[in-house]
Amino acid sequence: MSTEPILNIHNVSKRFETASGEITILENVSFAIMSGEKVAIIGPSGSGKSTLLSLIGLLDTPTTGNVTIAGRNIDLMTEKDMAYFRNKKIGFIFQSFELISAFSVSENISAPLDIGGKSIPDGALYKILTEVAMTNRADALSYTLSGGEKQRVAIARAMIHKPAIILADEPTGSLDRTTGERVLKLLLEAVAEHNTTLIIITHDENIANRMDRVFEIKNKGVYERN
Ligand SMILES: Nc1ncnc2c1ncn2[C@@H]1O[C@H](COP(=O)(O)OP(=O)(O)OP(=O)(O)O)[C@@H](O)[C@H]1O
Ligand SMILES: [Mg+2]
Repeated sequence: MSTEPILNIHNVSKRFETASGEITILENVSFAIMSGEKVAIIGPSGSGKSTLLSLIGLLDTPTTGNVTIAGRNIDLMTEKDMAYFRNKKIGFIFQSFELISAFSVSENISAPLDIGGKSIPDGALYKILTEVAMTNRADALSYTLSGGEKQRVAIARAMIHKPAIILADEPTGSLDRTTGERVLKLLLEAVAEHNTTLIIITHDENIANRMDRVFEIKNKGVYERN
């Protein structure tokens, strides 16, 4: 772990316009995460966990306040810069997987490299398929997979380009205990190997307690738990 913050959230607020008026989800939130740290984000349903992850992952911008990630201040980035940065530096594991349903398992996993104009290195696809125990489903179309299989593909896709940061929104939420444990172990091994920063949303105390730090969202604020 280094002493360099990879993520700095400064005075961030996020509001949404809705049919019944403006709602505030996050208010004046500030925290920093160091490179190589493993951090859990916990909080009740609807508290703003996925919203926060979207802001960290440059999928959305704060209403006020600033996000600086890997030395880049998002206020100074164009949409194009953000898309490039996301593709290079960030691995996402979404709550709803977001696989491309007409693509095969292999095509989904190699998508971040394809988008970046790179081909998948020899053996890398097989290695990661083995790690997520999906070698026998490599050519299956992703819409035919079970929830747990989709989750494992989503995890492989988030790791294939060795991003600096992995953002995982309940990556084991839809898995049975044994598969969930295997997937978590895989994720933790991958981040340890590459000194990847991991930010993981979870409802599972056991998972939260295995991270270096735990942040809790409540009353629109983000608080570090001791
Ligand atoms: N684009 C949007 N427009 C309006 N409201 C939104 C939007 N995105 C999120 N919200 C609202 O913000 C609140 C926080 O949503 P978010 O998805 O961040 O919750 P969460 O903590 O991830 O919940 P869960 O544990 O159920 O996944 C919810 O009330 C949600 O309806
Ligand atoms: Mg969510």
